[in-house]
Amino acid sequence: MVRCFIMALIVLFFLIHLSSAEPLLYDEVLTRPEQIHLSLTGSNSEMMVTWVTRNSTGMPMVEYGLAGGIKRSGQQMQNELGWPKFDQVAVGETDTFIDGGSLHRRLYIHRVKMTGLKPKQEYVYHVGGALGWSDVYFFMTYPDGTTWSPRIVLFGDMGNENAQSLSRLQEETQRGFYDAIFHVGDFAYDMNTDNAHVGDEFMNQIQSIAAYVPYMTCVGNHEGAYNFSNYKNRFTMPGGDGEGMYFRKPVCLRTELKGHGLSRCVTVQCTAQTAMILNTAPTCKTLYIRTGVNLEHSFSAEQLLYKYGVDLHIQAHEHSYERMWPVYNLTVCNGSKSEPYRNPRAPVHIVTGSAGCKEKLDPFFRFHTEWSAFHRDDYGYTRINIINGTHLYLEQVSDDEKGAVIDKMTLIKEHHGSYDCHLGKK
Ligand SMILES: *[C@@H]1O[C@H](CO)[C@@H](O)[C@H](O)[C@H]1NC(C)=O
Ligand SMILES: *[C@@H]1O[C@H](CO)[C@@H](O)[C@H](O)[C@H]1NC(C)=O
Ligand SMILES: *[C@@H]1O[C@H](CO)[C@@H](O)[C@H](O)[C@H]1NC(C)=O
Ligand SMILES: *[C@@H]1O[C@H](CO)[C@@H](O)[C@H](O)[C@H]1NC(C)=O
Ligand SMILES: *[C@@H]1O[C@H](CO)[C@@H](O)[C@H](O)[C@H]1NC(C)=O
Ligand SMILES: [Fe+2]
Repeated sequence: MVRCFIMALIVLFFLIHLSSAEPLLYDEVLTRPEQIHLSLTGSNSEMMVTWVTRNSTGMPMVEYGLAGGIKRSGQQMQNELGWPKFDQVAVGETDTFIDGGSLHRRLYIHRVKMTGLKPKQEYVYHVGGALGWSDVYFFMTYPDGTTWSPRIVLFGDMGNENAQSLSRLQEETQRGFYDAIFHVGDFAYDMNTDNAHVGDEFMNQIQSIAAYVPYMTCVGNHEGAYNFSNYKNRFTMPGGDGEGMYFRKPVCLRTELKGHGLSRCVTVQCTAQTAMILNTAPTCKTLYIRTGVNLEHSFSAEQLLYKYGVDLHIQAHEHSYERMWPVYNLTVCNGSKSEPYRNPRAPVHIVTGSAGCKEKLDPFFRFHTEWSAFHRDDYGYTRINIINGTHLYLEQVSDDEKGAVIDKMTLIKEHHGSYDCHLGKK
């Protein structure tokens, strides 16, 4: 009897303890910044940072400064370890995002733009506010002007499960290999799954790259749920429609959005002297983007790419890597037989959708197309170095082969503008 009473007391104690401990624990977690990621705004003196809290907080803030600290005249706080960091502060806005799932979960999405950044410097920052701050992260600002050579890593189709390439990307990003990351559609598989918990997990998973280097996105078919709302809310892309369905910047010349169902496809033409177009096909397979579906070739983007002289067209959706010879209207349009990529007579298309997701890889059909230069069913991602206004270097990294480069190409364009392949031989 006494033993029972003691047991009951113990149980009671635990019940009281649990019921009082739980809200405290949750309080702390709910206002802690998570899912922190950077994005470009179009101005090199600015950097956007976006993050999530599970409950509302006060005014979202970013404290930031040069990594080495900054010396101010009359500053008293210097010690032998250097000057204080975080001498700048920016405040921003909070959007309340309600997921379309049955729980109608609310996420508080904070967007703050850091301004007044100096070129080619390392900055440190943390995000949050009165109810809690994140860890400290760092990033490099870009040099001034357009004569530098951006190094971009590109991939599509990276999920929460089986994100095969992610650990290699983490290592390379934190070692300073890249100036920007482009994820060209199909995130998380899917961001709305399980009442958007999969989206939260994914965004936390990419924090290890996206908090250090701008993570630029366009939309894929896996983002379609509830009118693309998880995608539109979780990322902060510059220009365009303001919802990241397409964008013009950082240094893009032109954006072309085809009508009809393809208004959900993104086409971004980028960089000062070298036109690049990023594309992912939500409702349509890779080939359809180029030639369109059915006999009327509806949704075809090929004519636009050709007419406006787009140099390089990056797409995903197929979970594989493939490089084409310059091609238009199912005809190979090499620059010349010996140098197909020097002054090609049609756009060059790359498919890079094998970063890794739970749907694994897509096999190739056995028949060979004339325009396919190289293809591989391997997990991996693509690196681009825009060397200067005429030269662009591209290589494919295989994660399966421990980071080996399995394919490379140098695209040379000595003049830009519409193509002339349809006119026949030069
Ligand atoms: C969320 O924040 C509000 C105040 O902004 C507070 O009243 C409420 O208790 C918080 N909810 C949880 C579950 O922490
Ligand atoms: C979906 O979002 C677009 C804007 O991106 C809006 O124009 C459209 O009305 C929305 N459609 C529905 C059904 O809510
Ligand atoms: C594509 O090529 C076919 C011949 O193979 C030609 O009849 C057609 O006009 C071409 N279309 C375009 C848009 O150039
Ligand atoms: C294009 O160039 C590649 C590489 O030199 C070559 O294998 C292919 O046959 C060429 N195609 C045409 C149609 O000239
Ligand atoms: C561009 O880079 C290539 C490759 O490094 C070089 O051969 C070429 O001379 C450069 N062009 C200019 C205009 O600097
Ligand atoms: Fe996909």
